[in-house]
Amino acid sequence: TGVVTYDPGFVNTAATKSAITYIDGDAGILRYRGYPIEELAQHSSFLEVSYLLIYGNLPSPSELTAFDEKIRRHTLLHEDLKGFFGGFPRDAHPMPVLSSAVSALSTFYQDSLDPFDKDQVELSTIRLLAKLPVIAAYAHKKSIGQAMLYPDNSMNLVENFLRLCFGLPAEQYELDPVMVKALDLLLILHADHEQNCSTSTVRLVGSSNANMFASISAGVNALFGPLHGGANEAVLNMLRQIQASGEPVEKFVERVKNKEAGIKLMGFGHRVYKNYDPRAKIVKATANEILSRLGGNDELLDIAMKLEETALTDQYFVDRRLYPNVDFYTGVIYKAMGFPEKMFTVLFAMGRLPGWIAQWREMIQDPETKIGRPRQLYTGAQERAYPSR
Ligand code: CMC
Repeated sequence: TGVVTYDPGFVNTAATKSAITYIDGDAGILRYRGYPIEELAQHSSFLEVSYLLIYGNLPSPSELTAFDEKIRRHTLLHEDLKGFFGGFPRDAHPMPVLSSAVSALSTFYQDSLDPFDKDQVELSTIRLLAKLPVIAAYAHKKSIGQAMLYPDNSMNLVENFLRLCFGLPAEQYELDPVMVKALDLLLILHADHEQNCSTSTVRLVGSSNANMFASISAGVNALFGPLHGGANEAVLNMLRQIQASGEPVEKFVERVKNKEAGIKLMGFGHRVYKNYDPRAKIVKATANEILSRLGGNDELLDIAMKLEETALTDQYFVDRRLYPNVDFYTGVIYKAMGFPEKMFTVLFAMGRLPGWIAQWREMIQDPETKIGRPRQLYTGAQERAYPSR
């Protein structure tokens, strides 16, 4: 009732208060629970950052150990849930496989669905943190036709995930510490980003008191789109196309500026950052080092750097304050780790999971939460009489 404000894309509308993540888009600042992303990237682990986002403070060593142990105890998937993977086509994209399996968690784990029962919320939290990476790895194994391994709980979450993705039943999987560290860092950088499209989706679905699995499955689907998490896959496809066609980078940028066939420079631009995305800065700074140690495709990185250089000095991008975002350089690293393009957005989902959980829990506990229900400006026909026949 009263005046309805029209704000397509919610450019100026705050739908919630939140104490989790702070962004200053003009200054290029990102903090989780007050800690600068640069410091977390340097000193923290993904597990520790997950705890920080969800519970509000950095864990003590014993709190971290207890959290880690709880997660390790919940990595197994119900055997019937594993059967799910056989039902998808072989060439299925792993994102809808992931969202389907996350949605199905609420059929297998019915004892942790009540959003207002603290113990059940805690159990869902741990189950999701432990099982989503296993689901993600199985989606990958399914797509390449290899056996799904059981988790090895002597490993932590990130190590276990790498083994489940790249290990084989007949061989001992050798963890590469460079790869573990690189993936851990990338997951930290994706862990939360306040009210982005997928997080807002998680909150909106949750605001109807839907359970955490259902809400987060919706978030995975929102992340799939190329304007959001799907951008990391789209960036690599773009770099590959430029590489294969031999088109000079300047010419490609010219076509983007002319909005030819609606093409965009994928991995560029952001609703909130009108400055260099601090996450992209960290990825760029480490990409060279990681690639030289993992032996990745330097030519794609070279094309990316050339693209950035060309765009940043071009009036079109300067006027619109378009800078590289987090998705611009990550794909080149994921590729060097051995992940196929289709898995890139799944890796984003794994990273964003603790943020979604933290935001869902904050929403459920907030006494000001109401069911999300935007208004509209009606533009259709006025009342018409039904024609007599
Ligand atoms: N390439 C070329 N032009 C662009 C781009 C781009 N990547 N991004 C924005 N613009 C132009 C846009 O066409 C518009 O121009 P004009 O004023 O002439 O119409 C102007 O810049 C303002 O853009 P907008 O579309 O109003 O900005 P938005 O806040 O609605 O969209 C965005 C933000 C991220 C969806 C958009 O920048 C985009 O599509 N980028 C490419 C996809 C991408 O990299 N997404 C990842 C985002 S960051 C991580 C994540 O969320 O996953």
